[in-house]
Amino acid sequence: MNINVAIDGPAGAGKSTIAKRLAAELSYIYVDTGAMYRAMAYYFMKNGIDSTDKEKIDSVCKDIDITITHKNGEQVVLLNGENVNGLIRQEAVGNMASKVSVYPTVRTKLVDLQRQLAKKENVIMDGRDIGTVVLPDAQVKIYLTASSKTRAQRRFDELCAKGLECDIDVIEKDIIERDKQDMNREVSPLRQAEDAVLLDSSNLDIDGVLSEMKRIIDEKINK
Ligand code: DC
Repeated sequence: MNINVAIDGPAGAGKSTIAKRLAAELSYIYVDTGAMYRAMAYYFMKNGIDSTDKEKIDSVCKDIDITITHKNGEQVVLLNGENVNGLIRQEAVGNMASKVSVYPTVRTKLVDLQRQLAKKENVIMDGRDIGTVVLPDAQVKIYLTASSKTRAQRRFDELCAKGLECDIDVIEKDIIERDKQDMNREVSPLRQAEDAVLLDSSNLDIDGVLSEMKRIIDEKINK
């Protein structure tokens, strides 16, 4: 049977950085489900579809094909055949993804794809509803979080390192807003699964989180 590791948590908790490194070390496939929601959001934005237009979103979902491939360990998201990895990382796409991920039509499509991937390979999958909805039988579930202050500081440092100007208070406000949206939606809201291990990374660096995660995975899989 394949091994499934589910990592959930709020935006900016470091899930993707950590999950990617873990997957490389354990030779698992890394599945970034946020990127799938972002690709859908990008399609709606490109086609001028408003996030509140549920009817239109419901009707165009069938025209959207999301395919996941992997190249040199990196997940590549194909939106109707086009590699959109470079187009979906902006803040605006993330915010749109958070808004449109409330719709069951959008979610069902992506959840099916996520389950198919987990059936085929050993995966480390990160998102908001992996341990609760997508892979309820995952052998390992981790809920990775950090305070909004810490998450804002990390994002601020990241943007500064790229030479971009930004305001840490605005970043923190956006993070709190996104948490609110993701945690309070009706369908599959972000929450810690009952059997997930809680890991707060507020006072840990990347290597600290990584070694803690490896310990949790090892304990669960080799118990
Ligand atoms: O992890 P991320 O920031 O790339 O995700 C973008 C948005 O997509 C997030 O705010 C909510 C949505 N999402 C979701 O609803 N369920 C998931 N499993 C992953 C992401």
